[in-house]
Amino acid sequence: MSDVYYDPWDVEIDLDPYPTYRRLRDEAPLYHNERRDFWGLSRYADIDAALRDPQRFSSAKGDILEVVQADPVMPPGVFINEDPPLHTIHRKIVGRAFTPRRMKAIEDKVRAFCNACLDPLMDGDRFDFVLDLGAELPMRTIGMLVGIPDADQPSVRAEANRVLRNKPGEPLPVKKDHYFDGDMFTEYVDWRMKNPSDDLITELLAVEFEDETGTTRNLRKEELLIFLAVIAGAGVETTGRLFGWMGKVLAENPDQRQELVLDRSLIPGAIDELLRFEPPGPHVARYVTEDVELHGQTVPAGSALLLMLASANRDERTFDDPDRFDIHRQPGSLLSFAKGAHFCLGAPLARLEGRVALEEVLNRFPKWDVDLAGARRARSSTVRGWDSMPAIIS
Ligand code: HEM
Repeated sequence: MSDVYYDPWDVEIDLDPYPTYRRLRDEAPLYHNERRDFWGLSRYADIDAALRDPQRFSSAKGDILEVVQADPVMPPGVFINEDPPLHTIHRKIVGRAFTPRRMKAIEDKVRAFCNACLDPLMDGDRFDFVLDLGAELPMRTIGMLVGIPDADQPSVRAEANRVLRNKPGEPLPVKKDHYFDGDMFTEYVDWRMKNPSDDLITELLAVEFEDETGTTRNLRKEELLIFLAVIAGAGVETTGRLFGWMGKVLAENPDQRQELVLDRSLIPGAIDELLRFEPPGPHVARYVTEDVELHGQTVPAGSALLLMLASANRDERTFDDPDRFDIHRQPGSLLSFAKGAHFCLGAPLARLEGRVALEEVLNRFPKWDVDLAGARRARSSTVRGWDSMPAIIS
């Protein structure tokens, strides 16, 4: 029996979880933490298979470990926490917002937001990848997509952060009778109903779809509010974390950064490699619906199962030399956006924001060092990264 210990709330392990992940993959590919009452998978092949098996590994009780464990009342429409076939109906409706055509149409606006963030910093000698970019760009992008007036966007960010933050070392508190709050956008939806525009609220209000009873209808206001809250909850905090890692990892790999300065066509591959190397969402959880045999043991029905995406991304059974950051790596198989039914709906948007931001950073600041002593870690069990990543321009 291996004595490897893993705890997703442990602040020390979280600083550099990769040696622990490696031991889990080698010594305890099916891990059981009795104290914290969860099971865990860490190998790429196991996680990939579990993500494609929603019958046995369900999202219906949530996809955050604390939520699955608390089993709160989940209002209908929180599609990230639904299983097919209901999930399929809801996802298709929201998927309209993230088509390649839509992404192309908003690229100029995303670039304009980046420029507005970065231009005022041009005369200084430092900037912050999280405070100046990560905290601004995802919020403004989703705000624009949804149709939130600029002045109100910080309140969306504050709400999205609040929902996903826990105290260091402690699980996220989950309210059993009121886990999911869909009130965040009520005012805007009311307002948009009277003032249609070319945003997501207006578009979704007009959608006709066939619901689970076979009735063709429009979305109810409560359903729309929940969809919007899911999008904001999934897309603000995660993408924000990408920027801290961008600043740190590229400063630590100046030769590869220089390659990107000289050849911008390498940037999309570099963003995917960043996402593989330091995924902002290190794990997702599932609820086990029936007894399942894994690695010679039975995981009982009713268990909470943690799928360690960040470990899968470093699995030497799948990736050559996985602890090496390499922008030339053939992308495609990273698990940072999960797989299967719940594959991140916002992946094209996250990639777009990452690419455009990196282009604009390199246009202005081709070289920087990071002030790690001044950087501030984001303490959270759901997203992993930084609240501040100061860069000193050289
Ligand atoms: C780097 C940034 C991001 C990362 C690492 C990330 C990661 C993920 C992961 C791992 C999942 C799967 C959850 C599960 O299987 O339980 C997911 C789902 C989702 N993400 Fe993202 N995400 C990012 C950005 C975004 C953005 C920008 C948006 C939207 C604006 C977004 C919207 C969603 C939605 C709506 C789902 C649920 C999809 C479904 O249940 O069918 N994400 N994301």
